[in-house]
Parts: sequence; structure tokens; C-alpha cells
Amino acid sequence: MTELIIPEDTNIYGNVFGGRVMELIDKAAAIASLRHCRTGIVTASLDSLDFIHPIKLGNIISLFAQVNQAWGTSMEVGVKVFSEDSLTGEKVHTCTAYLTTVALGADGRPSRVVPPILCRTDEDRRRAGNAEERRVRRLERVAARRRRAAQA
Ligand SMILES: CC(C)(COP(=O)(O)OP(=O)(O)OC[C@H]1O[C@@H](n2cnc3c(N)ncnc32)[C@H](O)[C@@H]1OP(=O)(O)O)[C@@H](O)C(=O)NCCC(=O)NCCS
Repeated sequence: MTELIIPEDTNIYGNVFGGRVMELIDKAAAIASLRHCRTGIVTASLDSLDFIHPIKLGNIISLFAQVNQAWGTSMEVGVKVFSEDSLTGEKVHTCTAYLTTVALGADGRPSRVVPPILCRTDEDRRRAGNAEERRVRRLERVAARRRRAAQA
């Protein structure tokens, strides 16, 4: 996904709002998920997000999204964001986000319809393996939150 950063996207210092980048990340992840499972999805979570370089007014922002792993109901999507100086073409990696999206059935409940990932390259296999490791930590966090909610 590619966008030009315009004044309404930026703060008074000419840096893009973090929320605007998150919106584009969410949209790119949704497109990758929809293309993978061709059914309605929602974003369940976004792992931590570090902005390591500013994106400035007039930059071109490019987002690359890929479904890294799928577990029947949910998927992990990785989104890599680059900013590009529109005059020089210089590209800088700005942030990477990992989102979990969940397929929903007609009843609005999670639905076990997500096809498995077909890993074609070593890079695909590396991403799928790393996604499994992140899923363990993510589900621990979700379980801890649910325990706290049950005790409250
Ligand atoms: C996401 C949502 C559908 C999960 O519903 P739920 O009843 O908690 O679902 P379950 O416990 O049955 O889990 C369903 C799947 O979601 C995953 N999941 C649920 N919450 C998750 C979270 N916070 N992070 C990552 N995965 C999550 C589970 O691991 C499971 O996936 P799996 O079967 O592939 O392992 C529900 O919390 C929801 O509708 N949230 C709002 C989503 C939304 O509106 N997003 C837009 C931004 S507001």
C-alpha cells in the first residue's frame, strides 16, 4: 500500500501522526487477511509498535503486509513500513507491526475457516516459525488479562 503524506496527516513539526500510520497498518493487515481467507475479519490485537524513524510531510509511505501464520480462526499479519524521500528516492525502514486478525462467521463469532499458510520459501518458513513464538507470548498476555477480568 502506498500513500503520500499530506498536511492533514502531520503535526505542527511536519511529522506524521502515529495514529495515521497505525490506521494504514491496520488497513494493510486487513487487506492481507481478507485476501488470505476471503471472509469477514476483525483486528484482535496489535503487538508493540516502535517508531524508529520519523515520516515527514511530502514523504511517500509504503506498507508491505504478509500473513505470516494462520491457526484456523486467527492469523498473524506482519506489516513493514518504509518512508521514502519523494525527491531523492531514499527509503528508510520506519516500523514493523504484528497484528492478529480473526475470521468471523455470519453470527459475528470467531469462525474456523482460515486456510493454512503454504510456505514456499525459507523466508516464509522463518516468518511462520517466528509467528509461532510470538503467538505463545501473545496468548499468555490474553490469558492473564482474562484472569484479571474474571477476578475483578
Ligand atoms: C477478536 C474477538 C472476535 C475474539 O473473540 P473471543 O470470543 O475472545 O474469541 P476466542 O477466545 O474464541 O478466540 C478466537 C480466536 O481469536 C484469538 N484471539 C482472541 N483474542 C485475541 C487477542 N487479544 N490477541 C490475539 N488473538 C486473540 C484466539 O487465539 C483464537 O484464535 P485461534 O482459534 O486461531 O487460536 C473479540 O474479542 C472481538 O470481537 N473484539 C473486537 C474486535 C474489533 O472490533 N476490532 C476492531 C478494533 S475496535
